[in-house]
Amino acid sequence: MGDRRLLDGQVAIVTGAAQGIGLAIADTFLAHGARVMVVDVDEAKIEAVVKERREAGHAVAGQRCDVTVEADQDALVAATLETFGRIDVLVNNAGITRDKYMKKMSVSDFDSVLDVSLKGAWLGTRAVSGLFREQKSGAIINMSSLSGKIGNPGQTNYSAAKAGLIGLTKAAAKELGPSGVRVNAVQPGLVRTEMTLTMKPEIFAAKEAEVPMGRAGEPEEVATAVLFLASPLASYINGAVLEVTGGRGI
Ligand SMILES: NC(=O)c1ccc[n+]([C@@H]2O[C@H](COP(=O)([O-])OP(=O)(O)OC[C@H]3O[C@@H](n4cnc5c(N)ncnc54)[C@H](O)[C@@H]3O)[C@@H](O)[C@H]2O)c1
Repeated sequence: MGDRRLLDGQVAIVTGAAQGIGLAIADTFLAHGARVMVVDVDEAKIEAVVKERREAGHAVAGQRCDVTVEADQDALVAATLETFGRIDVLVNNAGITRDKYMKKMSVSDFDSVLDVSLKGAWLGTRAVSGLFREQKSGAIINMSSLSGKIGNPGQTNYSAAKAGLIGLTKAAAKELGPSGVRVNAVQPGLVRTEMTLTMKPEIFAAKEAEVPMGRAGEPEEVATAVLFLASPLASYINGAVLEVTGGRGI
């Protein structure tokens, strides 16, 4: 991409951005000229992330927000507008896993995973949709997973949440498309973050062996796909699901 900055002048909210894929998205957006609101439940990590990037001269702010809480999401939109004066991009990236086979999975394991990934993305999408409709522009990117396409044993909760995000993405794309607002989803495969490093090494290796490219992905390789969908390069892409898997699960 050379020196071309794809998000100059734009303001983006990225949830679950204190680490991992969300942080890589925030950094990629900053490198492309966006002003970024870093959102997470982990306040200490947000503070450290924001401090370091401010010192590097970036326009970045942080907000603690539990994406499952309606009032937090509404406060997030208000805080972003107060800080940066506009919002152009929302990345619903926050997600958790509570992997267990169904015989051991509790109702709260199920509910909490759906609450963060699916309800969190719905609340976020709803919270910006009025503004995006009024301004007749905006891009929303939902972080699904290959698990939502192929289904993973031990992830009945997570696969359901991540498949649900595809329905949400397509329905929202149809509702908001007439106002010039685009809603898309990304489906990463195996990516090296704290979420996957909690896997047993032999399970990680077995999954890696399923990847045609022969390796796990790096968070930055998901972030550039999100950047593309957020940017004017994707001006006619709406309701799409972009797989970022090295070819796994195709
Ligand atoms: N790592 C992978 O292989 C992989 C693959 C496919 C999809 N994903 C998805 O990508 C996203 C990021 O994953 P990651 O690997 O970077 O995970 P991660 O665990 O490293 O980071 C997730 C972040 O979300 C935050 N978070 C959790 N609950 C929250 C809540 N209620 N409100 C706000 N923030 C909250 C956490 O504090 C954490 O900082 C998730 O949606 C995940 O499901 C990851």
